[in-house]
Amino acid sequence: ADERLSDEALLADPVARIDAVGGSRHPGIALPRDLFAPERRNSEGIDLQDSDTLAAIAAEIGRHSLPPAPADLADPAAAVARARAAADDWSARPVEARAACLDRLADLLEEHRAELMAICVHEARKTIPDALAEVREAVDFCRYYADQARAHLQPVELPGPTGERNILRMEGRGVWVTIAPWNFPLAIFLGQTVAALVTGNAVVAKPAPQTPRIAARAVALAHQAGVPADVLILAAGGPDTGAALVADARVAGVAFTGSTATARRIARALLADDSRPLVPLIAETGGINAMIVDSTALAEQVVQDVVTSAFRSAGQRCSALRLLLLQDDIADHTIEMLKGAMNTLVIGDPADPATDVGPVIDAAAYDRLMAHRTAMAGRIVHSLAVPEAGHFVPPTIIRLDDIDDLQAEWFGPLLHVATWKAGTLEEVVARVNAKGFGLTMGLHSRIARAAETVEALARVGNLYVNRSMIGAIVGSQPFGGEGHSGTGPKAGGPHYLPRFCAERVTSTDT
Ligand code: SER
Repeated sequence: ADERLSDEALLADPVARIDAVGGSRHPGIALPRDLFAPERRNSEGIDLQDSDTLAAIAAEIGRHSLPPAPADLADPAAAVARARAAADDWSARPVEARAACLDRLADLLEEHRAELMAICVHEARKTIPDALAEVREAVDFCRYYADQARAHLQPVELPGPTGERNILRMEGRGVWVTIAPWNFPLAIFLGQTVAALVTGNAVVAKPAPQTPRIAARAVALAHQAGVPADVLILAAGGPDTGAALVADARVAGVAFTGSTATARRIARALLADDSRPLVPLIAETGGINAMIVDSTALAEQVVQDVVTSAFRSAGQRCSALRLLLLQDDIADHTIEMLKGAMNTLVIGDPADPATDVGPVIDAAAYDRLMAHRTAMAGRIVHSLAVPEAGHFVPPTIIRLDDIDDLQAEWFGPLLHVATWKAGTLEEVVARVNAKGFGLTMGLHSRIARAAETVEALARVGNLYVNRSMIGAIVGSQPFGGEGHSGTGPKAGGPHYLPRFCAERVTSTDT
């Protein structure tokens, strides 16, 4: 169903287009069970559409129980001191030696995949497909940054007009603190951490308080892969531990993924003391991510991509769709189709291979989301039944009067919908930009110039056209935003590693 019609034909008669591509105009259509089908099989060739494969993975996971949580870091200052003492030796090692540690770690992650997935399922309440994607992304980060380090961190001689010999070296800055979120407790925890390690830094790595076990396993495997114990120190604990680490003047950089509010607190702490060196903060935070749909879009594809973007992972991805912007003449019809598609979602225990949507992370998240849902009760146009026990937030569609009616990120399966009128695409993008976040944006349209317009105007890190807007792939879709969504460096991209380095040049008269 990918027949291409001319822009003119599509504009003239969107309904004819639906017929032309063999789509359905019946509201409430039930889509096939591959609603959350990954666009591609994962890198190990595992086919999650095959129920026997899924059941076998679930059985393998079932053999692993949740390990005890690691102890909280007792003395943040002592941890920074240990890391500081180990940093220079580590930085002096050849890039190849550090990159080899990342490759070994990737091998170990793959070897321990079932155990790591089990921890993700039980500790972070991830579904099996999400847990599999989590381990794969962690492996991808290790291998990608190892390759990037080999390619770009060697000393280079720069040509100059003066006849001097100019050598640029990329070296570690010292001790980085990495602070990870609970929603990607392995992939982002490790991604930030191995980026800092491979560039020659020692790291004190703090997981989210909700997910210390998976981080502890990752750190143990990194040590097994050859990273010295003092070069990578696990810092389990709550906000006080993070605050103590960030406040330590010996820390040479902070990589943080989490809320915008916490990123601001970290930025303030790094600048609080005039005697402290100026150090970089890499922050990847939230978004009010919008998907714009015009009347030429392929309705079935829109519905599938909206359900995936808004409800996969129970909406707990920073990339997830929060605000669906439908051209007004297709709004009612699209919402009817969305309702039908949502009704096919299986909500339940994440350890069950049939489950599409699990619970949200904890009681605090549940309470926040349910309070918003209650406040918007009069605007709910569809909502699913969920199990009573266990922090299940019903996947919900909330219809707004206006694009500007959503001004906060709700980190869960609550999809807000507003409409716009034909001929106002530029204004729509401007109003989304005006919210100040800039992480992901989606566009569904079969008009080439609509895509060109949105690409030119959207101030987001990741724009997704005619596809879902989650699940960035390491090395292909570098991920990260701007504005209230972060400081910009894109994880899994070719320009990420230099942000962790001190760049030093020696110029010698020859
Ligand atoms: N990397 C994740 C994604 O693209 C961020 O939430 O979905």
